Amino acid sequence: MPKIAIYPGSFDPVTNGHLDIIERGLKLFDKIIIAILTNPDKKFLFTLEERVQMLEASMKKFSNVEISTFDGLTVDYAAQRKAQGILRGLRAMSDFEYEFQMALMNRRLNREIQTVFLMTGMRWIYTSSSIIKEAAQFGGSIKGMVPPGVEKRIKEKYARKS
Ligand code: PNS
Repeated sequence: MPKIAIYPGSFDPVTNGHLDIIERGLKLFDKIIIAILTNPDKKFLFTLEERVQMLEASMKKFSNVEISTFDGLTVDYAAQRKAQGILRGLRAMSDFEYEFQMALMNRRLNREIQTVFLMTGMRWIYTSSSIIKEAAQFGGSIKGMVPPGVEKRIKEKYARKS
């Protein structure tokens, strides 16, 4: 049976830190299904369509990565897609409490699905979509932190907003 992981997240937008986790995850899983959260109550900078497009452009080189969208519970989506694992990246200690809480809740909701944490590469320890957006919003360089196409889109987004 192929080993499948769901990699859930907002991906608003995808960063090089996410790509690093996907590349590491592919060493453990036969297939990774990126699951982009569609939650209409959450405020995103990029539309769902834009987030899908940016991930598609960044994932072209991998044949065993699928990009999908979901709402509701991650464990339900994982079960629906017959995934055995939920993949999450860990950066600094500050991630731990939230991730620990979410993993335990997910385990309580569905004991068949295991959360697998992978440590991000050292270069991406302080990279997050939020900090990248904040830097870009005020004209700071985000080169090398996101795929080149994403850098262009963030700049365009903030140019339009100002
Ligand atoms: O990239 P993010 O914003 O850190 O991802 C958070 C995400 C999408 C993984 C989390 O909010 C989530 O799983 N949302 C779906 C609802 C759910 O299952 N919550 C956890 C158990 S209550």
